[in-house]
Amino acid sequence: MAKLHVGYVNEIDPKGSRTIEIGGTEIALFRLSDGNILAVENKCPHKGGKLSEGMVCGKQVHCPLHDWKIDLCSGQVQEPDTGHVNTYQVEVDPASGAIYLLDRTA
Ligand code: FES
Repeated sequence: MAKLHVGYVNEIDPKGSRTIEIGGTEIALFRLSDGNILAVENKCPHKGGKLSEGMVCGKQVHCPLHDWKIDLCSGQVQEPDTGHVNTYQVEVDPASGAIYLLDRTA
């Protein structure tokens, strides 16, 4: 499976995020308080808010515009709101801290 190197864990603040762009799609990488790195499309399904600027709580991000809550593992919007964002599979090399996105189409 193709892997794309997109940065290093230590480039993201704990409980913070950073954005990357791949093929015209902006992707937000989040570093959770448990150390996991999760990646979702950086675009709220409501009105396109930048999720990377939202507050992360557990495994959810709160959209900075209207506070929809989005699960960073599944991409699912929490009820009563509805919608879904694309998620990306992430792999971290424990030795170097290198972050890779796995190409699902490969
Ligand atoms: S744009 Fe995200 S909640 Fe409205």
